Amino acid sequence: MTVSFKSDIVPLFTSMDIEHMSALGARLDDYSFMSRPGTASLVYEQVSSGKMPPSTSGEQRWSEGNVQLFRAWMDGGYQP
Ligand code: HEM
Repeated sequence: MTVSFKSDIVPLFTSMDIEHMSALGARLDDYSFMSRPGTASLVYEQVSSGKMPPSTSGEQRWSEGNVQLFRAWMDGGYQP
């Protein structure tokens, strides 16, 4: 299965994630930003460790399935 940024990855982020991180310069819904390998790795590190989204935000940490989906998107060559 091909994992696509638009269909599979963007929906993993809540509007709160997108708004708060955009204010800090990380545009989670922007393909050209997210498909840079360094950026994708940093985001992967945050969601797989549970550092992001912060527990203080009231959001749950990502499920293992969501983390694996993000990983599969990276391994699949960052398909749009
Ligand atoms: C490049 C990776 C990321 C970095 C370096 C990063 C860094 C930060 C920092 C420094 C803050 C403000 C301080 C804090 O509340 O801890 C923050 C807030 C936040 N981040 Fe991230 N973040 C990243 C990715 C993400 C991702 C992938 C998500 C969602 C899945 C996310 C969701 C949030 C939310 C919801 C807040 C606001 C928390 C609040 O105001 O209650 N961030 N992030």
